[in-house]
Amino acid sequence: MGRVFLTGVTGFVGRYVAARLLARPDVEGLDVLVRARDEAHARERLLDSMTHAVSPDDAPELVARMTPIIGDLRRDRFGLDEEAWHALAGRTTHVLHGAANVRFDQDLEDARSYNVFGTEQAALLAREAKGRGGLDRFDWVGTAFVAGLRRDRVLESELEHAAGWKNPYEQSKYEAEQWLRAHAADLPLTVFRPSIVVGDSSTGATTNFGMLYWPIRLYAKGWWRTVVGSAETPVDIVPVDFVADAIDALSQPGQPVGATYHLTSGVEGAVTIGALAQLAQDFFGGRPARFADPDFFMTWVRPVVDLFIWGPKRRVLRQGGRFFIPYMSGNPLFDNTETTAALAAHGVEVPQVREYFSNLLAYAKSTDFGKKPAETPPA
Ligand SMILES: NC(=O)c1ccc[n+]([C@@H]2O[C@H](COP(=O)([O-])OP(=O)(O)OC[C@H]3O[C@@H](n4cnc5c(N)ncnc54)[C@H](OP(=O)(O)O)[C@@H]3O)[C@@H](O)[C@H]2O)c1
Repeated sequence: MGRVFLTGVTGFVGRYVAARLLARPDVEGLDVLVRARDEAHARERLLDSMTHAVSPDDAPELVARMTPIIGDLRRDRFGLDEEAWHALAGRTTHVLHGAANVRFDQDLEDARSYNVFGTEQAALLAREAKGRGGLDRFDWVGTAFVAGLRRDRVLESELEHAAGWKNPYEQSKYEAEQWLRAHAADLPLTVFRPSIVVGDSSTGATTNFGMLYWPIRLYAKGWWRTVVGSAETPVDIVPVDFVADAIDALSQPGQPVGATYHLTSGVEGAVTIGALAQLAQDFFGGRPARFADPDFFMTWVRPVVDLFIWGPKRRVLRQGGRFFIPYMSGNPLFDNTETTAALAAHGVEVPQVREYFSNLLAYAKSTDFGKKPAETPPA
């Protein structure tokens, strides 16, 4: 039996992971890092978060079984005082660090203050727990996009490259993983690298309408149908329930430590921008998407767009364009051979995009891309 310290539980992925951990017989307690004013506020935040992952009837019971640890990634020892820190380390057998700042628009120093410094604090806790004889695992959630601007097949065993990154978020996650490899080799570390995480494969539910949802929203509203990128660009997406199932399966007692897992669709499972555009057209019934070369678009079309498009439409176009266009122009292919082999033993398979994509679109449509509450709560 063990006690898990989990970060990121108020986030999109972390809440699904928390629900799975609490269903496990080997998990006797769950300490969760939460940014909050006090315990009542922390519990309020946890309840709000869990109602997005399980049914509202089940959420209070799950929250009652969590112990909130009020703290912040950017502070030494998460801002805990000496006594609280040692008590936490003394009872922790499994550190699962998923919290991060995932915004693409932050500057590099800010991104590092969450993603590198926060990782260092999680490793510090893991090391202290190990010193007290109790640490079985230190699981860390990274991103497959540490591969940055690479365009080739990326193996799970690879990290170092000189291709650069699309944004400071990717770079900070790369640096955090690099830091772990250099400084946490003595810890029972396992790295999970999801690709683009989308909604639940059966309900389509998500609270994260960035990335892929941005061009789909523009298309669904009839605002814009030009994809600035190539129809052939590969896109690797994975539903959030799969990511949580995989982390849950591969972090159970007896699972090997030391691996790096690509929680991705993989080289065979990745689709193309063109295929997703076609699926969106089939669902929303609009006109076919057009594709524009990014350099041509930025030089010749964008100035015209700036002159003739105004108001909220222009704001959505410009903001999203700045951050998401790089993901439409070219992407790596994430080999997931090790992961699929390891997951096969648990009966967990990577879902095929074509089998669940319409569920994502139906949810996005019914909530007006997160602007309205969901008609049916998560199962
Ligand atoms: N979503 C994706 O497509 C994707 C893809 C690949 C990898 N990942 C990785 O998966 C992990 C989870 O991502 P996500 O999509 O679930 O992100 P998310 O929804 O933004 O959640 C981030 C979590 O981190 C917490 N956090 C952020 N700053 C913090 C701070 N200063 N102190 C304490 N906690 C803090 C947030 O708490 P608050 O609620 O207080 O902000 C939240 O619980 C991250 O490590 C991310 O890099 C995500």
